[in-house]
Amino acid sequence: MQLNKDIQTNGSTSALLLQSDCCMQPFSVHNGECLQWLKSLPDKCCDIFTDPPYNVGKDYGVWNDAMPDEEYAAWISDVLTECKRVANVLIVYVPKKWNLLYWNVLGSEFQEIILPFRPAGAIRYGYSNQFNKLLTNAKPKCKKPVLNVWDNMPQPGLGFFFREETYDHPGYTSEAITKRAIMQLCVSDVIADPFTGTGTTAVAALDAGKKFIGSEINAEYVAIAEKRVQRFINAPKLF
Ligand SMILES: C[S@@+](CC[C@H](N)C(=O)[O-])C[C@H]1O[C@@H](n2cnc3c(N)ncnc32)[C@H](O)[C@@H]1O
Repeated sequence: MQLNKDIQTNGSTSALLLQSDCCMQPFSVHNGECLQWLKSLPDKCCDIFTDPPYNVGKDYGVWNDAMPDEEYAAWISDVLTECKRVANVLIVYVPKKWNLLYWNVLGSEFQEIILPFRPAGAIRYGYSNQFNKLLTNAKPKCKKPVLNVWDNMPQPGLGFFFREETYDHPGYTSEAITKRAIMQLCVSDVIADPFTGTGTTAVAALDAGKKFIGSEINAEYVAIAEKRVQRFINAPKLF
């Protein structure tokens, strides 16, 4: 299976591919800035699962993750507005500092319904266990009230023997959480991630039998994502 690397700076290849989705490649990543790429996509063409940069000074190589707060707030508001326009279901990680901003931009139809449990190891802020938040407009697929979809979730820090490859990425996202969120909540055939990083969302989307499109500003991460996806595609499958 051939991977499709979208190297056009305006991201138009992804938009074209979406219009004829029967011929669409299973994986397409635009190496560039996400806002222009998102603007090239049609309304309600996919679902989005994403873990954005939080402007906390992480070293993403290319992107300045320590811009003035007002600049970050204006930029991420535009990105979230575009995500909401293009996605049927949108699932986004929320940093504590920007929780209210994200929620205000996305609107009250978004719920903090998913709080994956993350043992922090050392005590932080006086608490030994922490919760990460996702904001989503997804409706649970199951008709019964959903109490907890995070049982048996292998996560870094949980149990002595669990290790997850993080590809030396400073903001790596848990593959287990991503997979479960996509399986439980997504409805579209195409999953997008404007902040693809090492391709965690891509692997989770393909594992769920869906196609993936994304953007990533750092070419080194794009290369890791491509290798990771190729390895996933080539791996023997039981079913
Ligand atoms: C929190 S990480 C996402 C990690 C990813 N989910 C994974 O598991 O590898 C955020 C990513 O967004 C990328 N990024 C930052 N600003 C960007 C922008 N304006 N456009 C596209 N990608 C960007 C960074 O290079 C980084 O890889």
